[in-house]
Amino acid sequence: MDSTATNVVWHEPTVTRQRRAEKNGHRSAILWFTGLSGAGKSTIAHAVEESLYQLGCDTYVLDGDNVRHGLCGDLGFSDEDRNENIRRIGEMAKLFLDAGVITISAFISPFRADRNRARELVAEGDFLEVHCHCPLEVCETRDPKGLYKKARAGLIKGYTGISSSYEEPENPELKLDTSIMSIDQCVESVISLLAQRGVIENAAGVQSTG
Ligand code: ADX
Repeated sequence: MDSTATNVVWHEPTVTRQRRAEKNGHRSAILWFTGLSGAGKSTIAHAVEESLYQLGCDTYVLDGDNVRHGLCGDLGFSDEDRNENIRRIGEMAKLFLDAGVITISAFISPFRADRNRARELVAEGDFLEVHCHCPLEVCETRDPKGLYKKARAGLIKGYTGISSSYEEPENPELKLDTSIMSIDQCVESVISLLAQRGVIENAAGVQSTG
């Protein structure tokens, strides 16, 4: 999208991301959860946040359904609206990253190009894509909001997995098979990823192994 804002000048802050990281005792990063509706993105995102909170980390979950009540309340589910939804979330996640927060986004984000665009907004290593993989049949059986049933009945047009596509990540930093892993196992894998990538090694509640 072309920027139409003119005569705007970027202001360099004195409180930098680096200083925030020193104060917080951990680096910030974006954990970008992607997957079908019902694959467990929100559940795992909030469980990861709970664990990180207990470790003393600054976190925030950007959740699809919640964000669509406000910032993205003007958007529907056409391909174009999903592009715009993910563009806004990508920009918002970038601001949270700068604010020193471990930012956990939980959106279907069905299109590879949109996810890659969000990834390219930030430096390498700041964007960790987590694929919540779950077969469509299992998501449909779970159907926590009853929306698959409605989509199958033709009451919802363009439902992801039924009448709108989901493009699986080719090279995510982490793939969780939520049809066979427990929530605790998924959380453990995500926390290990953050430790491996040097995001939380200095957080208050993380025991030093050195
Ligand atoms: S995204 O495709 O733009 O990333 P997002 O994660 O914000 O989607 O919103 C998905 C949520 O919106 C689903 O969990 C579901 O509750 C609801 N929803 C309503 N209509 C649709 C639809 N046509 N396709 C997918 N999800 C829908």
